[in-house]
Amino acid sequence: MDDLKQKYLSAIADAGDEAALEDLRLQAVGKKGEVSLKMRELGKMTPEERQVAGPALNALKDEINSALAAKKAALADAALEERLRTEWLDVTLPGRTERRGTIHPISQVSEEIAAIFANLGFAVAEGPQIETDWYNFDSLNIPPHHPARQEFDTFYMNRAEGDDRPPHVLRTHTSPVQTRAMEKQGAPIRVIAPGRVYRSDYDQTHTPMFHQVEGLCIDKDVSMANLKWVLEEFFAAFFEIDGIKTRFRASHFPFTEPSAEVDIQCSWVDGQLKIGEGDDWMEVLGSGMVHPKVLEAAGVNPDEWQGFAFGMGIDRLAMLKYGIPDLRAFFDSDLRWLRHYGFASLDVPTLHGGLSR
Ligand code: DAH
Repeated sequence: MDDLKQKYLSAIADAGDEAALEDLRLQAVGKKGEVSLKMRELGKMTPEERQVAGPALNALKDEINSALAAKKAALADAALEERLRTEWLDVTLPGRTERRGTIHPISQVSEEIAAIFANLGFAVAEGPQIETDWYNFDSLNIPPHHPARQEFDTFYMNRAEGDDRPPHVLRTHTSPVQTRAMEKQGAPIRVIAPGRVYRSDYDQTHTPMFHQVEGLCIDKDVSMANLKWVLEEFFAAFFEIDGIKTRFRASHFPFTEPSAEVDIQCSWVDGQLKIGEGDDWMEVLGSGMVHPKVLEAAGVNPDEWQGFAFGMGIDRLAMLKYGIPDLRAFFDSDLRWLRHYGFASLDVPTLHGGLSR
């Protein structure tokens, strides 16, 4: 019995894992284990022998069982220690700054524009990119044979064979959203309409798809003075330059009377463009007082209501603000370009948090 005890207690002490322990348990105190077999021999003993051997065997069995339990607990502790040593995580480390996707500069600038105009009381309106030629042209005082139709390099959609109605167009500007918004809401109204527009044109400063934002403000006594103030507020906020100068030049658009093109102050030093300083001017938008015929087409009474509208290129504004040289790169989906010019996904522009990074 002493031999058995020596053998198992030292084997248990040396066991390396739970599986080895379980083997030892079966060998010693399992149904066919050595200690169990010895217990079966008790029956063949004399009562005197049994009185000595019985309690001794039980004691041996208990001792082996508790050695097994103690070793099992020690192995579990060691395993936990090992996990704690190898699987630790320092929760005080800063978050990972590696970013995967980025916000496209056009998306970022559209959000910036919407944030600034929201602050001036303008809601965001939308219209379809596939437009009827009535909304895109006629409703804006551009009748079928008006020369302005040629200036737009319009993409026309095919009609089904035998369908003689005028073809749909890919909208050439965001101005038709003026008509749609006034039809829907009437006057007074104050909206901007950012979105995609299309013209058949391609070079360093033109892509067949680009982005514009339209502005519309109609009320009882809205004037060119209000237009000037709103645009100056906008440019100061957008370029983050207080008191940025603007220049209004008389121009012509069929949908406004009078019409003005607006330039912002800039300088060219060593081929470098700087906005908001110097003696040069950069044209950034078209605008004017909404033509009575446009109001009429949208169901707004021009004897009662008047106001201004403007339209500008979002891509152009993004290029100017963030120093992006080639318009075409905006739409090449080059990951290196997107990572360089893109914005962190949580960098949402707000007036209080800052518009740009
Ligand atoms: N729709 C014009 C264009 O695409 C831009 C424009 C000019 C919009 C004057 C206006 C405006 O609302 O008043 O070139």
